Amino acid sequence: MPSHDSRAFSSGAGTVDAPASGRLRNADRALPPASGGTPATGTPPGAHQGRGHREKLGETDRTDRWWLVPALQALGLAVLIGYANVAAFLGADHYHFVEGGRHYLSPFYSPYIKPSWLPSWVSPALLILIFPLGFRTTCYYYRKAYYRAFFADPTACAVGEPKRPYAGEASFPFILQNIHRYLIYLAIPLLFFLWWDVILAFTINGAPAIGVGSLAIFASTFSLTLYTFSCHSLRHLIGGRLDCFSCVAGGGPRLKAWSWVSVLNGRHMAFAWWSLFFVCLADFYVRMCSMGVIQDPILVSFANLFNVPEKVFGP
Ligand code: FES
Repeated sequence: MPSHDSRAFSSGAGTVDAPASGRLRNADRALPPASGGTPATGTPPGAHQGRGHREKLGETDRTDRWWLVPALQALGLAVLIGYANVAAFLGADHYHFVEGGRHYLSPFYSPYIKPSWLPSWVSPALLILIFPLGFRTTCYYYRKAYYRAFFADPTACAVGEPKRPYAGEASFPFILQNIHRYLIYLAIPLLFFLWWDVILAFTINGAPAIGVGSLAIFASTFSLTLYTFSCHSLRHLIGGRLDCFSCVAGGGPRLKAWSWVSVLNGRHMAFAWWSLFFVCLADFYVRMCSMGVIQDPILVSFANLFNVPEKVFGP
């Protein structure tokens, strides 16, 4: 990681070196004439470093509750990720509820892969969770959230940062975060398995039906789908690197797809939280049913159309 003083600040206009020390004086802010001899206008990139830069950790003139959002994010992430870890790695006994005609699989265990060589004490979630987990931990939104919530880096706008402030993701280990743009290729196929689980969850006693568990599994997969299709990397993949849609093959459909993904992308933060919440909720519900704590009620059943016996409660 480059040293504090040698950091280069950049914008679309170019790159300048940060001043050796302190804030820029007015004279330093004057732009050199552009190459044609015309004086440039605007502020050089990096000229305004803002409050918080070079101040003590947490020092600020802000009087609002700037700490509230990072604190809530830290709490939310600790609770939900803590639960996800317990469910995936330690709670391998009750991830599947197949009694009473139901077929509810915890989303942490989908696609369900349990080869014969896998020791019984190893959770099958370990085999597949690395991909959705990697996708989530390298997500651009989650990076922002957990950098702030757990590392206070940056702490908040105009609030003093740690001694070694965030300097980008250009060196190890943070450069590994760039793998996110490749993990999107794996995240999309995983959705097919999750939607297959939704179909199974809406089939009770061999007939189409809706139980509370069906809705829990549906909410999990639906929110995960919105989260995946609002991904910044996907948006870039579809149209972000194009300057001209009408100049490339399939430009029309790409523009349409890019527009839709852009609408979703604007809500990516909300989808990130909702999907994490609903995945945990679906796992919890399946677990409670499997342990016999909850009797899963059937809300709607088409069993009479298919001539199969109907059970209101299972198992
Ligand atoms: Fe969040 Fe890609 S940026 S999933």
